[in-house]
Amino acid sequence: MFESLKPQPADKILALMQLYKDDPRAEKVDLGVGVYKDATGLTPVMAAIKAAEKQLWEEQTTKTYVGLLGDPGFSDAMIDLVLGDAVPRANVAAAATPGGTGAVRQAFELIQYGNPSARVFVSDPTWPNHISILNYLGIETVSYRYFDSESGGVNFAGMMEDLAEAKPGDVVLLHGCCHNPTGANLNMTEWQAVTDLLLKTGALPMIDIAYQGFGDGLEEDAAGTRLVASSVPECLIAASCSKNFGIYRERTGLLMAVSQDASKTGLTRDTLAFLNRQNYSFPPDHGARLVTMILTDETLRAQWSAELEQMRLGMLVLREQLASELQRLTGSDRFGFLAQHRGMFSRLGTSPEKVEELRKEHAIYMVGDSRMNIAGLNAKTVPLLAKAIADAGV
Ligand code: LMR
Repeated sequence: MFESLKPQPADKILALMQLYKDDPRAEKVDLGVGVYKDATGLTPVMAAIKAAEKQLWEEQTTKTYVGLLGDPGFSDAMIDLVLGDAVPRANVAAAATPGGTGAVRQAFELIQYGNPSARVFVSDPTWPNHISILNYLGIETVSYRYFDSESGGVNFAGMMEDLAEAKPGDVVLLHGCCHNPTGANLNMTEWQAVTDLLLKTGALPMIDIAYQGFGDGLEEDAAGTRLVASSVPECLIAASCSKNFGIYRERTGLLMAVSQDASKTGLTRDTLAFLNRQNYSFPPDHGARLVTMILTDETLRAQWSAELEQMRLGMLVLREQLASELQRLTGSDRFGFLAQHRGMFSRLGTSPEKVEELRKEHAIYMVGDSRMNIAGLNAKTVPLLAKAIADAGV
């Protein structure tokens, strides 16, 4: 049977990770995979996580199964973090998942289960794995205009025009904040307009929020998601703890299904439990437990938010430095958008050939669509990158 398996196209982000590893050049700069790095190039375990792990090691007496939806304490803490008091708890069905990707996958499974003919509208561009999973599940995708490579901002008029085509039963996939791969985000006026349009078309919004706290702050980054969740009849939210808690390999995420009609919550919750059971049974617990401990303990929470804030501000400084260095070298303001973007990523807006040239000639690794992980930079590599971009005539 195995001889009939078909080779799959390599995931571009993961293939780039390997290329970077294999490059012997000492001065190489990794702006590929979306992993936070400090100024020394490390992806540190946050001190709050370390402290929670120590406490957990001392206190945990069993590792027996928890439940198909994970620990309700984790759901409550995460619902609070993402939704605040935007919607009543009774209106939210939630399931712990293996990472944010697990939440995305389970959301797509739920969509397919609930409406086999649903189409999912995805931003052009979006995280490539969104499309890959949708294709794998056989769910039809419709792309909507999003990024304007001329300005480096959102093509909002194009987005609205395309989303107006959505029908009841369709799903509109939105990025809650820190759009991946572009770094270009909606402002609150635009979120309101998108919400109004969703109400008009009857399409169901699904929000992928993987970088809360990396953009404008924990509350600010959740504002669009909260607005949508409190306005539409139903929505899905896939949240990741990988980046903002730095627990990538622990695979910690939560899928939330919000309905204005609380009488639907029980059935939705049972369906999420059923879907978890079919795919992997019990979701991972270790990372979820650490997150719960941090979010429910005043001292740990304060320590974690301070660390997160430091990471966020560090990325903003790097953005400012890169934009101003490019301004100095090129004598033009056309890279100003790099300072306006938020989150870990920015799309430079250049061709795959230039990206290749940057890799070959300057040992700079960015994804082929010119997505850069800003957290991969430091004070020493910002001038190198700016010079390489200017020399390559991007
Ligand atoms: C990324 O976009 O680089 C991250 O979300 C990691 C991944 O799984 O692709």
